[in-house]
Amino acid sequence: MAIEPRAFLTTMETRIGLTPEDKSVMKENADWGSSIAEEMANHFYAYLGRDAEMSGILSATEGRAHRLHKTFIEWFSQMFTGMDNWGDEYAKCRWHIGLIHVKIGIAPQHVVPAMAVVVHEVGKKLKADGKSEELKEALGRICMIDLAFIEQAYVEVSSAAVLKETGWSAALFRRLIATGASDM
Ligand code: HEM
Repeated sequence: MAIEPRAFLTTMETRIGLTPEDKSVMKENADWGSSIAEEMANHFYAYLGRDAEMSGILSATEGRAHRLHKTFIEWFSQMFTGMDNWGDEYAKCRWHIGLIHVKIGIAPQHVVPAMAVVVHEVGKKLKADGKSEELKEALGRICMIDLAFIEQAYVEVSSAAVLKETGWSAALFRRLIATGASDM
């Protein structure tokens, strides 16, 4: 049931409406993105630190918080360049980020509000720095695409684990989920 990251990226671009113009405006502002990445990382980890559960995850292993600060800055800057112009490398990187969060046990209920914080904080910074509405919209879209990767990883990994453990077919699994949902 694993997804093909590049195909997933293409589908998300279409569904979320990320356009060539969005990509251009983000690339034009890549230096600005890098210049505010550290400030955004500070907001992000301050937010996670205020939640007891997430704060526990962040401090669970030696050096994790420090490492995360650095990887967040890279992640944030990559949104503006698309790495390889939103190609295979970008898609694989976002899929890998999704898998890491599943492995650590970070559920959608943590990831969605965390991305909302990114969108909110970057929105305030855009306004303060007099950046365009077009850039705001483009960043909102790419954030949603990155979020979709993390969320989809959660579903794919849990489904694959159940199928492997039980030997059920994907169709049977889908039917059981649908029945379970009707019973709730
Ligand atoms: C907007 C949502 C999020 C983004 C964009 C994000 C970004 C990242 C990135 C880029 C990495 C590094 C992946 C790698 O090593 O290749 C990472 C790892 C990680 N993230 Fe997140 N993250 C998000 C949400 C969260 C949340 C809600 C938590 C909850 C505490 C969290 C905790 C972690 C942890 C513990 C790691 C692994 C750190 C390590 O030990 O190396 N992340 N994240």
